[in-house]
Amino acid sequence: MMTDGLGRRISYLRISVTDRCDLRCRYCMAEKMQFLPRNEVLSLEEIALLADMFVARGIRRIRLTGGEPLVRRDIGDLVRRIGRHVGSGLDELTLTTNGTRLSDHADMLTGAGVRRINVSLDTRDPERFAHITRGGRIAQVLDGLDAARAAGLAVKINMVALKGVNDDEILPMLHWCDAQGFSLTLIETMPLGETGEDRTDHYLPLTQVAAMIDAHHALTPLPDRTGGPARYHAVDGLRARLGLITPLTRNFCADCNRIRMTCEGKIFMCLGHEDHVDFKAALRSGGVGAVEPLVDRALRLKPAAHDFRIGTDLAPATRRHMSVTGG
Ligand code: GTP
Ligand code: 5AD
Ligand code: SF4
Repeated sequence: MMTDGLGRRISYLRISVTDRCDLRCRYCMAEKMQFLPRNEVLSLEEIALLADMFVARGIRRIRLTGGEPLVRRDIGDLVRRIGRHVGSGLDELTLTTNGTRLSDHADMLTGAGVRRINVSLDTRDPERFAHITRGGRIAQVLDGLDAARAAGLAVKINMVALKGVNDDEILPMLHWCDAQGFSLTLIETMPLGETGEDRTDHYLPLTQVAAMIDAHHALTPLPDRTGGPARYHAVDGLRARLGLITPLTRNFCADCNRIRMTCEGKIFMCLGHEDHVDFKAALRSGGVGAVEPLVDRALRLKPAAHDFRIGTDLAPATRRHMSVTGG
């Protein structure tokens, strides 16, 4: 079992398998991104070895992220490999994806033991989608969602709530998710990395959004936690559940259970801090045994909380983009 310096049990690992993505969401990436050279990136085998080590140390849930995880070549090999732990060491293996390649991978995911996925979709309007993602085609995502449903995956839609961009679509999105059999999670935009966009302009506190939704459909907080930061609500009159991720208006750091590993093998203890421990050199020179002591060092580094601020401080909390840490 892993416990950090503040006594929090660490049981959840997010693994970013690539920093690359086929989209360029405005709140996540800059228009022109410098991606890592391939030799800096861990091989799938190296990622799998580290995942095994973390499962042995007490990680119970793994979420694969990116960039976009499904653009990594042979990703199915890694999903199947980590999927072997599901039901023994792992309670759950999940994935966060932009959905563009889900049509090709949905069956692979269920076959490997994935039961639920989170798909990012901030709008249902094709032109807006192309704007937000800087050129993406929404039809690919909608096809991917159909494939996910057909494969039996439970789907949660992630929507970053953006003032003046998609705030008018929040209620329609909730209704659409309900009709599709999906849940919806709204997310407050977080200031990570220079994106060339002013996030303060688009920041929308979810306290306001929850009040707006509540006026149409009474919201009842649910006790369920998935091990993640979302707080879930039953929505009167709908089957869809509503999740709210509120790093700015109500942070959830006191019961944080997670750490994250980038595709370069850096362990970040918090999304909003630069502190990290690099596993790659130790792994490449001394194998997994050489990494073990670094895990303990990383755990001691975990900060009490992020220090994202919107409104008072326009500077990003880290130079690192969201796409590097995978959320
Ligand atoms: P579950 O495992 O289902 O709870 O998923 P999740 O909602 O944590 O994961 P997902 O990858 O869908 O992330 C949704 C949003 O939550 C993203 O914007 C993430 O950046 C954000 N998020 C996830 N974990 C953390 C965290 O520890 N701190 C902060 N500040 N944000 C987080
Ligand atoms: N703030 C909040 N959420 C973000 N995401 C990407 N960048 C940001 C940001 N700056 C979301 C994506 C995806 C999840 C992993 O993180 O939309 O759903
Ligand atoms: Fe944990 Fe950091 Fe996320 Fe807060 S911001 S919940 S401390 S990882």
